[in-house]
Amino acid sequence: MRQEQPIGIFDSGIGGLTVASAVTQLLPEEEIIYFGDTAHLPYGEKSTAAIQSYAIKICNLLLEQDCKLILIACNSASAAAYDLVKAYVGSRALVMNVIDPVVDWAREEMKGKVLGLIGTKATVNSGVYQQKVAGLNAGIDLKAMPTPLLASMIEEGFYQNGVSHSVIAQYLSDKQLQGIDALVLACTHYPLIRLEIEEYYQNQVRVVDPSALVAKAVQARLMLSNLLRKTKVKEEPRFFVSDFTESFLHSTTRFFGREVHLTEYKLWE
Ligand code: DGL
Repeated sequence: MRQEQPIGIFDSGIGGLTVASAVTQLLPEEEIIYFGDTAHLPYGEKSTAAIQSYAIKICNLLLEQDCKLILIACNSASAAAYDLVKAYVGSRALVMNVIDPVVDWAREEMKGKVLGLIGTKATVNSGVYQQKVAGLNAGIDLKAMPTPLLASMIEEGFYQNGVSHSVIAQYLSDKQLQGIDALVLACTHYPLIRLEIEEYYQNQVRVVDPSALVAKAVQARLMLSNLLRKTKVKEEPRFFVSDFTESFLHSTTRFFGREVHLTEYKLWE
């Protein structure tokens, strides 16, 4: 592998743009190719087998694009397909997920504490976070709860309003999430409601947005493999979606922080 090769980032749709944004901010010299599988979103409601088959197909595309690293920028896909994708890709590219950087952070910061986590049904019910955190043997009491309404609520642009305040309050007041010291936003959409969640907790609970942790982990991994790009790439990041709609296009700005050009790539035809 060479330093000049691109980083491939994929998600079920546009949520992973929050992760792509953190990666481009930390590593502005890297070339980025993003693929959002908008034809199949939401992954959070899909079976493990379905998510795995989508992930392999997307990886083939990113490998064809000569990516040196494939980042699964979706918690649901990281939970369902990371081991499979890693085995499938083998030595052709590095493969990373959005779960391990959070687990590494928890090892350092959450010893003996109570950690809350919210995400999609696919993520929470997979038990992957629970297994990995238990495997740390760090006395962390993980309280994970699916919050399936949140991703579609955010996609519809419902945040910082009365609807989002009450949905968030309803979920966070659930007894499963009481007594936590910190809350992990284990879904790529949730950074958009981070402020509201912090307001709900009145800053008594630390709210963890994994995107910056993930970007740092990507940097460390590339550095370790001597694959960090030294000279800034000339091309702008390229963004592909498997099904284009105007509504996705409009949402991209909110998730990425600036306007992006979306190209449709019919991977399933
Ligand atoms: N990107 C997904 C995740 O992080 C959320 C959206 C979906 O369900 O597809 O889990």
